[in-house]
Amino acid sequence: MNVCIRPARKNDIPLILGLLYELGRPKPENNLELKIFRNLVKKQISDSDKQILVAEDKNGDIIGMVSIILVPRLNRVNPELYIPELIVTKKFQKKGIGAELINSSISFGQRYKCKKLRLESGNFRLEAHQFYEKLKFESNSKSFTKSLE
Ligand SMILES: CC(C)(COP(=O)(O)OP(=O)(O)OC[C@H]1O[C@@H](n2cnc3c(N)ncnc32)[C@H](O)[C@@H]1OP(=O)(O)O)[C@@H](O)C(=O)NCCC(=O)NCCS
Repeated sequence: MNVCIRPARKNDIPLILGLLYELGRPKPENNLELKIFRNLVKKQISDSDKQILVAEDKNGDIIGMVSIILVPRLNRVNPELYIPELIVTKKFQKKGIGAELINSSISFGQRYKCKKLRLESGNFRLEAHQFYEKLKFESNSKSFTKSLE
């Protein structure tokens, strides 16, 4: 499918938030939270060690996004490429766009000499796991979280 992968711009922020809600991230409960979410996306777009790439179709609609963070590791000369969010909107899945977003993320990481890409994927995301396996990702660790509420 003919899509353009490009860095996100500030006017993409509402559409990026829409994709994050589709991914299952919390929706804002009030205007203050919405403002905080918008500012977080804005910061991610402007910080030099972070990036958001969006997939834009030929009509100019944003149909997917990936967020990227360069993470320094104490025992590594080069940062790791960490992907906290990746989503292609339902209607456009299985058309190669997720793979394009990953490949563009890898190109970004290569500019910073990253040697490894890391991400987590919830146990329930069985379809995403098949996608990552298809792209030759290895599943080699367990992820633990603990609620602090
Ligand atoms: C996971 C996701 C990003 C994949 O994006 P996508 O655009 O649908 O995937 P692609 O079309 O680029 O697929 C690339 C390859 O993976 C395979 N693949 C994708 N989804 C698959 C699935 N559910 N089962 C088996 N293979 C799958 C494709 O067939 C393709 O293989 P091919 O090159 O041999 O044809 C997308 O499905 C999505 O956003 N899912 C919901 C949110 C989510 O789970 N995000 C990941 C959070 S960790």
